[in-house]
This record gives sequence, structure tokens and C-alpha cells, in this order.
Amino acid sequence: MPDALPVAPDRLTRPVQFRAPALPRDRPHIDGAMDKLRIRGGTRLDGEITVSGAKNAALPILVASLLTADELIAENVPELQDVATTLKLLRQMGVSVERSGNTVRLKADAVTQTEAAYELVKTMRASILVLGPLVARFGSARVSLPGGCAIGARPVDQHIKGLEALGATIRIENGFVVAQAERLRGARIVTDMVTVTGTENLMMAAALAKGETVIENAAREPEVADLANALNAMGARIRGVGTSRISIEGVERLHGATHRVMPDRIETGTFLTAVAAAGGRATLRGADPRTLDSVIDKLREAGAQIDTQNGLLRVDMSQRANAISLRTAPYPEFPTDMQAQFIALNSSADGVGKVTETIFENRFMHVHELQRLGADISIDGNTATVRGVARLTGAPVMATDLRASASLVVAALAAAGETVVDRIYHLDRGYERMESKLAALGADVVRVK
Ligand code: UD1
Repeated sequence: MPDALPVAPDRLTRPVQFRAPALPRDRPHIDGAMDKLRIRGGTRLDGEITVSGAKNAALPILVASLLTADELIAENVPELQDVATTLKLLRQMGVSVERSGNTVRLKADAVTQTEAAYELVKTMRASILVLGPLVARFGSARVSLPGGCAIGARPVDQHIKGLEALGATIRIENGFVVAQAERLRGARIVTDMVTVTGTENLMMAAALAKGETVIENAAREPEVADLANALNAMGARIRGVGTSRISIEGVERLHGATHRVMPDRIETGTFLTAVAAAGGRATLRGADPRTLDSVIDKLREAGAQIDTQNGLLRVDMSQRANAISLRTAPYPEFPTDMQAQFIALNSSADGVGKVTETIFENRFMHVHELQRLGADISIDGNTATVRGVARLTGAPVMATDLRASASLVVAALAAAGETVVDRIYHLDRGYERMESKLAALGADVVRVK
């Protein structure tokens, strides 16, 4: 039984199930359950903004705090609803969390329970990331299955298969993944498809396993590399960072570290696309253009001038965009998280663009809302054909998921008249103060409470 094991240094003496008291929210302004954005579009953008830390890197890095009893300091952590959810989840487990601006200090030296409840997991699928670290360090974990979501089934079979290969015993019980293990042991894992959080979960688990793990077909997304760098700063021995073959030599224990979260490439890409759609120019500070090659290539094809010199990223769009065709695929190819924004860009571009989604089924929820703005889009299987119209026109629309919401904002900025985007709590999950950044670019955007 896990309790009796001598090898894992930080095993719980007895996993306790308890309900943590309701915690104050990390930032009241991101509690925008009923908020809407009112956008008056049709004007060119002009200005400068600073890109935030990457949501998809911050979430696994915060979770990595579960792997050590020492303090992990994460810098450049964006103020987002998904970050607040992750911190709440960690606090419920007994991790002490201190947040000061964009710096978060985490200490998992008194973990009292290894359960992630449905109430939190259902709001954020990435909660599954606690599974690997918990079973690796404490020998047990009980994590609610995420279930379906707006953009498709999104199963976690690869996470489970990989942890089983590392020696965990896993069963599904009452909607929970229940994992138990003595000390995990290294293994060769070939994932059936490229999975970002799957690779991250297995990498974190393998960091504390006995012996070497090799993950083949690993995700090469920069956020996976950022997590690997954070883990290495904590004493992990991970090689092949950023490649599809990651090897991890397990260590007995990890220690504290300070890590600065990489810039958000999807936020960056969204703002670049907004300028391409509305016209104008912008300077984005703090971005990392090297993580955006495929997106920048497509924006140039659309007619935008993009300059990436001297640590700044500048975009200038002085023409109506050309419609472009693209196909989403794992990094370094075009990101699925930018697909919706490019459909929005194509909606008022010159010509016809075909956009094929290969990562997620059912990720065209934004199409019906874009049609309310006058977009001419038809869907056939996983391809959307977008015939650019001369001018979109404002309308009330509803956000359905995170990137769909971003696409509505992009389209609204290009549209004539007023658009009200309802249910922007989706937007608040992944974009830090989007309306103030857009305002800094001269957009007419207000948050309506
Ligand atoms: C992550 C990102 C998300 C992005 C996605 C793809 C985070 C927190 N989220 O999501 O923003 O859109 O990568 O770049 O980083 N799959 C399975 N079984 C599994 C795991 C995945 O079938 O066990 C499938 C999924 O259903 C999907 C594909 O694999 O079709 C890729 O999913 P995955 O890379 O795992 O997405 P996430 O990690 O959830």
C-alpha cells in the first residue's frame, strides 16, 4: 500500500478527504460571469501593448508545485480565471499559495488530500494535470473525469495509458480516475496522438519515477518546453525538450526553483490577427515571435507587414486582408487555438479561404455567431469555407468557448457598428484584461457589467 512505502519521500501518512472552505477569489475583476463586451468596430487600431504570460504554460507549471515540498516561485503568471481555478484546486489539496501581482509562490509541504473534485475539473479540463504529480509523489490520486466540453469529446485515455506504463494502477470509479502506485518506474511510452497536457502529465510523473522514461510522439508545443525547463530548474533531468522524443531520468526528489512563464503566443497571435482584420498598426512588447512562425507566415500571406526585430513585434496592416487557407496541426504547424480568429479574419477578407481543423471535432461553434455579423461561411466535415464579405455588420453575439470568443472580438473590431459579445467569462478564462489592451490600441470597447 502506498502509505507504507519507504521510497517516495513525501507520501501522505493518510490521504484525507475534506472540503476546503470557500476561498476569496484571486482577482475580483475576473469574476465576470454576467459581463458582456460592447465593441464599436470599423476603426483602425494603433498603439502598443504588452503580452501576458502564457496560460497554457502557467497552468502546468503551477501544478508542478505538487512535485516538491520546497517553494516554487512562478513569475509572469497571468491574471486569468483558469489560473484562479488552478490555484483554488491546489489550495484545496493543502498547497499554500501566495499571489502578489504576477508572481505566485507555492509550497506543497502539507498536502492533505489528493482529490480533484468534479466542481472544479468540469470548469477547467486542464485540472487533469494534477493526476501525474499526485500519483508520483504521494502514491495516490482521485481526479474527476473532465467529461465532454464544447469543442468535442477530449478524452484522457493517453494520460491513463502512460501512467499505467509507469506502473500506476488505475480504475475509473464514479466518474473519477483513481490512481495508485508504489514508486513509479520509468518506461517507454508512445502516445497514439500528439497530446499537450498528456505529455505534460507524463513528464511530471516520470520526473519522480525510478529510472528512465522515454515519451515518443511527445508534443513539441513551446508550453511543454517551458514546463520542462521549469522542472529542470527544480532538479528534474529532462532531455529532448521541444522535440517529439523526450527522455526523463527520474530523481528521488525535486527542489524549489524560480521560473518565469513564457509569453502567451496565442494572446499574441490574437492581437496580431485583430490588427490584420481591423487594419492599423501595433507594437507588442514581451512577445516571443519564434513561437509564432506559422501564424506570422499566414498573416503575411493575408497582407500584414510583420517586423520581429530588436525584441519587439510590430504589425502593420494597410490593406483589406487577403483570404487565406490553412490546416491546424500540432506545433510547429498552425495552432488550433488560432483557428477561430483566422476564420474571423477571413470573414471580411478578399477572396475565399478554406480552414481545416484536424485537432478537435466540433470546433466551429463560432461560425454560427460570425454568420450573425454577416459572414459567409459553410462547413463541410472539418473544413470551413469562408467567402469574405466587403463589410461585416455589428450584432449581438454569444461566446461559446475561449477561442470562439476571441474570434467574435476580432470580427467585431472589423465590423461596422456595435457588437455586444455575451458570456465573456469564456474570454476571461484565457485573456488578461483584453478590453484594456484593446483600448490601448484605440478600439472602442467597454465591459458592460
Ligand atoms: C491543450 C491546450 C489547448 C489546445 C490543445 C491543442 C492546455 C491547457 N490546453 O489542450 O489550449 O487547444 O492543447 O493544442 O494546454 N486526445 C485523446 N486522448 C487523450 C488526450 C488527447 O484522444 O488522452 C485527443 C484530444 O481529444 C484532441 C487531441 O488529442 O483531439 C489533442 O488534444 P490535447 O493536445 O491533449 O489537448 P489538451 O492538452 O487538452
